[in-house]
Amino acid sequence: MRIGIPAETRPGETRVAATPETVKKLAAKHQIVVQSGAGASASITDEAYAAAGAAIGSAADALGAEIVLKVRAPDAAERAQMKPGSVVIGMLNPFDAETVAALGAAGLSAFALEAVPRITRAQSMDVLSSQANIAGYKAVMVAANTYQRFMPMLMTAAGTVKAARVLIMGVGVAGLQAIATAKRLGAVIEASDVRPPVKEQVESLGAKFIDVPFLTDEEKEIAQGVGGYARPMPADWMRRQGELVHERAKQADIIITTALIPGRPAPVLISEETVKAMKPGSVIVDLAVEQGGNCPLSELGKTVVKHGVSIVGEPNLACLVAADASALYARNVLDFLKLIIDKEDKSGGAPLLIDREDEIIKATLVAHAGEVLRK
Ligand code: NAI
Repeated sequence: MRIGIPAETRPGETRVAATPETVKKLAAKHQIVVQSGAGASASITDEAYAAAGAAIGSAADALGAEIVLKVRAPDAAERAQMKPGSVVIGMLNPFDAETVAALGAAGLSAFALEAVPRITRAQSMDVLSSQANIAGYKAVMVAANTYQRFMPMLMTAAGTVKAARVLIMGVGVAGLQAIATAKRLGAVIEASDVRPPVKEQVESLGAKFIDVPFLTDEEKEIAQGVGGYARPMPADWMRRQGELVHERAKQADIIITTALIPGRPAPVLISEETVKAMKPGSVIVDLAVEQGGNCPLSELGKTVVKHGVSIVGEPNLACLVAADASALYARNVLDFLKLIIDKEDKSGGAPLLIDREDEIIKATLVAHAGEVLRK
């Protein structure tokens, strides 16, 4: 099997879908071709890939392989260089019907790793988790860098400095890592989420949970989410949450928002009124900016100052930790690959075997043999 690793072409994308570690494992059984320079932004040289057993080639060589490993969905120019019938694996944006239709029209078998189900067997392939973890960490680093004060409490000869108060909105993978990271820096932390099990996780990390009680059975039921993900909460609960958050935001120095609902715009959690009420010099890092933002004042790809508050709208914080983000992503991809290759023994020599009954394959295969499977 010929496996290609092209360089990513999307502006700002620094990651690469395979590392020398994963190439070495694949090269034992397959022919690997890496586009020259594919790892450059993640500090991986062509020589390191070559030493792991890859051939170094052009974009056309990598994109023309039978299996193409990508971070982002291939654009039109890339699709034009891919062979109908070949396989592409990456974060293909499965909720974007246009992208999925284009992959189908190109005759590709396309696996969108964001759609990996949250079951135990798929944990090692969960790209949303591996990348959100990094984004949560980096969000705190970016916030600390933008904030004009210390994070920890300090007692100095020149007087005492108060610890920063950090508010985390949305405590999934990114939010939990943000709490842990801010805690290590000595901040005082509060957090909010809709899903009830989060309270215990927040408290176990030494942060305070902002409890918004459920007043109806409907609220309680929706808050359970589905498949580990949140569902949109009823308007009245969101209003009550907004009121509580407004009060907590007035005290906060840093707010990190991570709240997402799969396939929908991000919920608005920090209104303009709340930003106006915040202290001058406060910082908001909006991790949901690409999905519309948890704060309506955040701007994609920019840091803006509104009502004296710096609002960071960097869409892809994992890209700022390119080397480790690539290392973890590449391991996710390698584990996924094991589902469709390396089955020579069982299938009597067929190197590629797409088992359409497999739960993980079913969830991630968005286009196959010219057919669009997810609309
Ligand atoms: P996500 O990135 O989709 O959303 C981030 C957080 O925002 C979630 O915790 C969500 O509940 C929260 N949120 C949504 N609407 C909100 C609102 N109005 N107010 C406050 N918060 C709101 O979620 P993520 O990080 O992908 O993970 C969600 C859960 O899935 C986590 O508890 C995680 O532990 C679990 N998980 C399970 C896995 C498995 O079992 N294999 C793998 C990965 C995660």
